Amino acid sequence: MSNYHIKTFEEYFHIYRKSVREPENFWEEVAEEHFVWRKRWDNVLRWDFSKPEIAWFEGAQLNITENCLDRHLRTRGDKTAILFEPNNPNEPAQHITYTELYERVCKMANVLKAKGIKKGDRVCIYLPMIPELSVALLACARIGAIHSVVFAGFSSTALSTRINDSSCKMVITSDGSYRGNKSIDLKGIVDEALEQCPTVESVLVVNRVGSSIHMEQGRDEWIQPLLDAAQPHCEPEVMEAEDPLFILYTSGSTGKPKGMVHTTAGYMVFIAYTFKNIFQYREPDIFWCTADIGWITGHSYIVYGPLLNGATSVLFEGVPSYPDFGRFWEIVEKHSITHFYTAPTAIRALAKEDLNYVEKYNLSSLKVLGSVGEPINEEAWHWYNDHVGKKKSPIVDTWWQTETGGILISPIPYVTPTKPTYATLPLPGIQPALMDENGQEIKGNQVDGRLCVKFPWPSMARTIWGDHERYRTTYFTAFEGKYFTGDGALRDEVGYYRITGRVDDVIIVSGHNLGTAPIEDAINEHPAVAESAIVGFPHDVKGNALYGFVMLKDVGEVRDRDNLRKEINQQISDRIGPIAKLDKIQFVEGLPKTRSGKIMRRILRKIAGNETENLGDTSTLLDPEVVQQIIKDRL
Ligand code: PRX
Repeated sequence: MSNYHIKTFEEYFHIYRKSVREPENFWEEVAEEHFVWRKRWDNVLRWDFSKPEIAWFEGAQLNITENCLDRHLRTRGDKTAILFEPNNPNEPAQHITYTELYERVCKMANVLKAKGIKKGDRVCIYLPMIPELSVALLACARIGAIHSVVFAGFSSTALSTRINDSSCKMVITSDGSYRGNKSIDLKGIVDEALEQCPTVESVLVVNRVGSSIHMEQGRDEWIQPLLDAAQPHCEPEVMEAEDPLFILYTSGSTGKPKGMVHTTAGYMVFIAYTFKNIFQYREPDIFWCTADIGWITGHSYIVYGPLLNGATSVLFEGVPSYPDFGRFWEIVEKHSITHFYTAPTAIRALAKEDLNYVEKYNLSSLKVLGSVGEPINEEAWHWYNDHVGKKKSPIVDTWWQTETGGILISPIPYVTPTKPTYATLPLPGIQPALMDENGQEIKGNQVDGRLCVKFPWPSMARTIWGDHERYRTTYFTAFEGKYFTGDGALRDEVGYYRITGRVDDVIIVSGHNLGTAPIEDAINEHPAVAESAIVGFPHDVKGNALYGFVMLKDVGEVRDRDNLRKEINQQISDRIGPIAKLDKIQFVEGLPKTRSGKIMRRILRKIAGNETENLGDTSTLLDPEVVQQIIKDRL
């Protein structure tokens, strides 16, 4: 029996049990059957969570792009690899075949090489959702350069911080980007960022919007003429299994963003395996993940997962509301999409609009629906199930993280019976554990606790770029010998998992992971601000919105508070990006602190969520009066 494609619930349990009993044999079989290796591994797994050190398939040599592209050329050369749907519905869609994609990747790889990029160099990619974005990732991987994609909605400061953190040598960007009826001056943002980035030697610019932009002499070049002149073949760099493939930044609860490092062989094996099983992908299905490639969901399930399986992957440049709220469904009908994978925040936003936007399109091609990025609430789950899936397409509520590389807990459609709001069961090879506050594992069912993973899986991040100690303390010290996810979860009477949300200072707004500390730092940089604290509060579209409690330096001096609110939000927008703006800003005279000076966010969260009846234990507060005043002035 092949381990690769699970077809029944019994088979799932059988494979799961085997994967726990003999994890190395399990992953070895998957790796043997489905990939092209230049050299076989000597050792399947070496690990020690106390250091932490994790190595999969050591000794193996490969190039992931050979697995994504070359090996499909003979059997699927004319098949569409990327189906590009532009922002403007009147601009024709593009069907890029595996052969064309191979040639475009090779050309770009040759351009990068000619610009002096070598194995191990870091290349920052700051592009909108256009085919060149996928091509750029794969071109880096082809020559062994480490790609670091920065979401093109981040501000110039956020961009420069990320470029500097990993000393990128090159930036690949575009003149601008389209989003609905707006266009954004991406190159202008890059120019501003690069004033602070001494390591960047060259910038390659894709012409997307045809705007006139500044080109810095000796640094910036239009990419198209270089691509036109490049050879369409490029020998893949032979990579070691544990060579880094990419860095992707995620917010932490403190300080600067964490550059999660993913390596080559383990990531490839796990992403290919999960794509195939979690979506029950079969030829000639057409798979659409609506995420941006700037996030891990796009890396794993727009680019690598589908291409490793020879699938057709849709790349959508636009937004769900343009030209109207029917755009997603129009695209599903137009391209006979079989798999649709999106975020609860998008579902909630669309569910608020007229049902006619969904009902007027033929969605009968759909076979599997997916959800990712935050807990999906019951109402959104039912709307998705009833109106999009017509109760015929199972919903896979997939739980995972930037750090995990791929999906760890999810139903397998047509195999695992689904339950609204439950991510259900771990994938084969994944050993979750719920922990109590004393560090003990909570066994049995109908329990809740902090979600950890007990055993390594192939696509877990190996380190934080440049700061292995931070990797250790963030993920491996809260619960000895286990990877701590930062999430809380419960396990129901049959062993299904439901993720209840973050238990640390990360807040998920519209599916975006935001750390409180960087936002507070941005607010505190405003000259009028002394100190601030932000917390999340429930919001019916975004899931959570941000509530800021801001203490001013000199209350008497500030007359126009609305203007100050705007300035604070502008400051956040400039430092981080518009996604981190606050919905509410309350000016306070003091913040609730413990005697040791720590802000008690638990209390602020209750106030923001209007749960002031039961504030819990306030006995450790330095000055309980402060709390009463904040409650009185609540917005
Ligand atoms: O809190 C969990 C939530 O998103 C966090 C990870 O965010 P990020 O690294 O940006 O990756 C998002 C895409 C994989 C998790 O710690 N999360 C993700 N998926 C779910 C979820 N919460 C509940 N249910 C999910 N399906």
